Amino acid sequence: MITVAHVSKQFASFAALRDVSLYIEKGAIHGIVGASGAGKSTLLRMMNLLERPTSGDVHVNGVCLSAASPKALREARKSIGMIFQHFHLVSNKTVYDNIAVALQLARIPKKEHAARVQEVLQYVGLEAYKEQYPATLSGGQKQRVAIARALVTKPSILLCDEPTSALDPNTTLDILRVLQQIHADFGVTLVIVSHELSVIQQICTSATVLQAGEIYDTLTLVPTGVRSGEQTAESFVRALTGGDAHA
Ligand SMILES: Nc1ncnc2c1ncn2[C@@H]1O[C@H](COP(=O)(O)OP(=O)(O)O)[C@@H](O)[C@H]1O
Ligand SMILES: [Mg+2]
Repeated sequence: MITVAHVSKQFASFAALRDVSLYIEKGAIHGIVGASGAGKSTLLRMMNLLERPTSGDVHVNGVCLSAASPKALREARKSIGMIFQHFHLVSNKTVYDNIAVALQLARIPKKEHAARVQEVLQYVGLEAYKEQYPATLSGGQKQRVAIARALVTKPSILLCDEPTSALDPNTTLDILRVLQQIHADFGVTLVIVSHELSVIQQICTSATVLQAGEIYDTLTLVPTGVRSGEQTAESFVRALTGGDAHA
């Protein structure tokens, strides 16, 4: 489904990735973990050719991205959605238009736009917000809009670059549940870059550990499930003091 074969990435004289190979099965929830600067985002961005390998190949759904024609690449990208730490919404477009842009880019006929935007907005629970601008939304709502934008082209793969790293603990759980639901409802393969181990532990079925541009380890995991424990003021005090709040 996703095969990365002997990929290296050189930025001038700096080697960001060195001979990285990995295979991600259809339907997996695959984590990419490692310290800041390890090459996680660079590796993820190879999976839709936002970043082109200096050497090596990336195959997605049987298509070699670096050898694909512009038309074949556009077709391949329809099946690959992406979300980011800082959401990357267009600030002077409404929620509706932010999502419709993805349909435009994928050259989906305009007459289908309204129904498809409506459908994904309903899915993420933000129908009532379609005429609002991103600045009026919370972080969690912004990420839901970004998820809706990624889903509107009905991808089989969703690439997630630090999807919860800008969010508070409760909103993190909320977004992890949305991602898990997408996996359950549509069988979407998820690739999740995170420096937060708990994110990987909660939902990933496999993981690649990167260190300084190289694969340190590849793991098969049993996800613990998204923990339901709500973060309350009391739990914050307990975490900060190491004891019971107001015991
Ligand atoms: N476009 C670029 N030009 C030069 N160096 C880059 C570029 N993108 C990333 N790098 C460098 O490559 C390394 C890996 O970056 P990145 O993949 O963003 O790491 P991570 O996501 O694990 O924090 C970092 O040292 C970063 O500074
Ligand atoms: Mg990164």
